[in-house]
Parts: sequence; C-alpha cells; structure tokens
Amino acid sequence: MPVLCVNIDHVATLRNARMGIEPEPVTAAAICELAGADGIIVHLREDRRHIRDRDVRVLRETLNTRLHLEMAATAEMQAIALETEPDMVCLVPEKRQELTTEGGLNCIGREKELADYLAPLHAAGIRSSLFVDADPAQIAAAHAAGTEFIEIHTGHYADAKKHAERQAELDKILMGIEMAQDLGLKVNLGHGLNYTNTLAFACVPGIYEYSIGHAIMARAIFVGLDTAVRDMAAVVASFDD
Ligand code: PXP
Repeated sequence: MPVLCVNIDHVATLRNARMGIEPEPVTAAAICELAGADGIIVHLREDRRHIRDRDVRVLRETLNTRLHLEMAATAEMQAIALETEPDMVCLVPEKRQELTTEGGLNCIGREKELADYLAPLHAAGIRSSLFVDADPAQIAAAHAAGTEFIEIHTGHYADAKKHAERQAELDKILMGIEMAQDLGLKVNLGHGLNYTNTLAFACVPGIYEYSIGHAIMARAIFVGLDTAVRDMAAVVASFDD
C-alpha cells in the first residue's frame, strides 16, 4: 500500500510569523502520526524561513514513524543530515525568492556530482530521493546518480487550469512513473497534491509515498489537523499497491 507522509513546513511558517513558539511543529507532527501519517517531511531551507535546525533535531528524537528531510544539495545540509540522521533525504532545487519549490532538480550532467554527494549519506544508512520533473532525461540522470527513490514533481499537473493541459501533464507523470519503475527506481509523488487531484493515481501500481503538505494544512484550518490527516490517509489507503 502506498504511504502518506505529511509535510509540516506550513506549521513552522505560522509559528515564525510571530517569532514565537506556537504553533509547535513537533506537536503537529505527533498529531499527524496519531491520525495515521506514515511519516513526517520537513524542508530545511538555507534561509530557515520555516523549519529550523532545532525542529529537525527534536523531530528526530520524538517521531515514532519516519523523518524525511528535504534539502538543497549543499555541504551545510549534508553535514546536518549526517548529524541528525533522517530516514530519507530528498534533494530539491532551492531559490531564495521562490514561494515554494518550483520545479525538479536538474540531474543532467550532474550524475557524478550527485552520486558523490549521496555516497556519505548512503554510507550512514540514510535513504535518498531526488525530486525530479517527469522528464525522461532527468529520470535517467537521477537513476545514473545512484538514488534509490525519485519523487516525481506533480506541481505542473496540480496547477494546470485547463483540462487538456492537466491531462498532458498527467500523461507525462504516468510515463515517467513507468520509465522509472522499469529502471528499478522507487517512485514517490509530491507537490500540489490534494484530496481530489491525487485520485488520478488511485490505480497506478507501485507508488511508494505521497508527500503532501499544503492541502492538508489548508483543510486543517477548518476541520482540525487530526481530521485533515485522517481524510488524506483514507484517500491514499484506498489506492492500489
Ligand atoms: N515535495 C516536495 C519536494 C516539496 O518541495 C513540497 C513542498 O514543500 C512538497 C512535496 C509538498 O507540496 P505541497 O505542500 O504542495 O503538498
């Protein structure tokens, strides 16, 4: 069965809006776990705009499920990952001015650089994922870099306004999933997924993980975090293996 990992960055964004201590992301993570999340995802950005180093450390100590760390492929982040030992790191591109991650990592021509970057993480028992667009050349390059997982970027599909555009983006993702699986990569999906657009993947076999943040936190404002996570966990649990 695919699993649901909940991204809690927005909780930290709200906390940081007043530079205080509430809402506490660690408490949010515990509620997500109790509601059925299979793991917690945080993106430690270079500018620390939401998640902070302390959050990663305390989550590592307190989570009962798994901790996935999204990060840029920098020396600083590699050192933090080696120190805190998340279950998985997902390498993402990072631009200071962006509102959120805008696209997949460029892996083409960087296969050796990425393989060298991942090697110490793998040696420490940390699994790796590369966040890539549903582009065959990027998927092939990610595979050549020696990652175990890729996370296919679903944001363009989620953002598409017109039916034809959305269908075209979905087709690209479905082809990307098939290609990645043929190469032996494990496939996760994430970005912009919500309670309805995720249903397009219900019958797609072999997806490991859905990485979802914004839609769950948006619903949580109205129905509470427990219900919002339970609703999404039920959606993902209804999908094919
Ligand atoms: N996957 C990656 C790599 C991301 O950067 C994000 C956003 O932080 C997500 C998944 C979750 O996206 P959303 O918040 O739109 O569900």
